[in-house]
Amino acid sequence: MKTNKMPSHHGVKESRDGTYPNHTLKLLIERASCRAFSDKKISQDTLQLIFEAAIHAPTGGNLQPYSIIKIEADKPKQKLAEMCAQNFIADAPIDLLFCIDWHRLQRWAQLEVAPFSATSSFRHFWISFQDTIIAAQNICTAADSLGLGSVYVGTVLEFFRKLRDMFNLPKGVLPVVLLCLGYPKTKPRPRKKLGIDVIVHSDKYTQSKDDDLKKAFDEKYPNLKIEITEERLKRIAEVCQKVHGKGFAKQCIETIKKKGYINPVQRYFGLHYEADVMPDGNEEFLTIIEEFGFNWFRKYHPFA
Ligand SMILES: Cc1cc2nc3c(=O)[nH]c(=O)nc-3n(C[C@H](O)[C@H](O)[C@H](O)COP(=O)(O)O)c2cc1C
Repeated sequence: MKTNKMPSHHGVKESRDGTYPNHTLKLLIERASCRAFSDKKISQDTLQLIFEAAIHAPTGGNLQPYSIIKIEADKPKQKLAEMCAQNFIADAPIDLLFCIDWHRLQRWAQLEVAPFSATSSFRHFWISFQDTIIAAQNICTAADSLGLGSVYVGTVLEFFRKLRDMFNLPKGVLPVVLLCLGYPKTKPRPRKKLGIDVIVHSDKYTQSKDDDLKKAFDEKYPNLKIEITEERLKRIAEVCQKVHGKGFAKQCIETIKKKGYINPVQRYFGLHYEADVMPDGNEEFLTIIEEFGFNWFRKYHPFA
């Protein structure tokens, strides 16, 4: 059997003489998101195999409550790229929109005179969300195994209504995530991850010591020291104050000035995702989800 050298930069301790026991593990451990695609087309045979991998993914009750919209035409790809402000969406030869789909099962129930209330059930929503993502991830792995690359685009969640109109989504079909698929221009480099010792808990959830936790994140984000600018300090102070009050804002700014840089978690939640606006729009999302035919967060009322 062919073995392959393991890299040392991914949070997995070297084992088995530094080699992988099989090609599947090499693929899984060395995978990375691909955001630069070549012009090479994906053949129908290749696509067929990739979709076979998706439909054979595990799924709650073997119900397969998901659909995949395959987008190959330039116009919708360009539109998606503009909407999400991510150009690689247009460059990828194929984009796949993964959707929860209870519509198909509802139709089946209607055709065969069976009761149906899955769209009023949080349990079924929750499971179908997982089913959809698991099928998507099977596609990623299958694609990787055939020399393709892929990247998820989560920002589609800001455009549910537009996606419904663009792709004729009926009630009971809710977009989850977009996946861009194509041959990589160059092989993407795996990113550093937290190690097994941090992620895996034996028997019970164990709290790591503060220093160990900090060290784990420092190792994941080495040298990520964001330069202090007046504008950044102002924004972080504003975010901190809105979320945790004046005292916390003062403490955060003092910490930054003392260290001489903005650390990665201050950047993540102070500048990038912005803790003060993160919960914005929750109510609007509920309105949209209901508009899409799901009403599990209301008092039970069947058949939306
Ligand atoms: C649900 C989800 C949504 C994501 N959305 C985006 C996105 O909108 N744009 C992007 O460039 N990458 C996106 N990614 C890719 C992540 O940034 C990437 O997985 C992460 O940085 C780790 O890098 P790696 O995949 O190379 O290991 C998304 C990934 C997931 C799982």
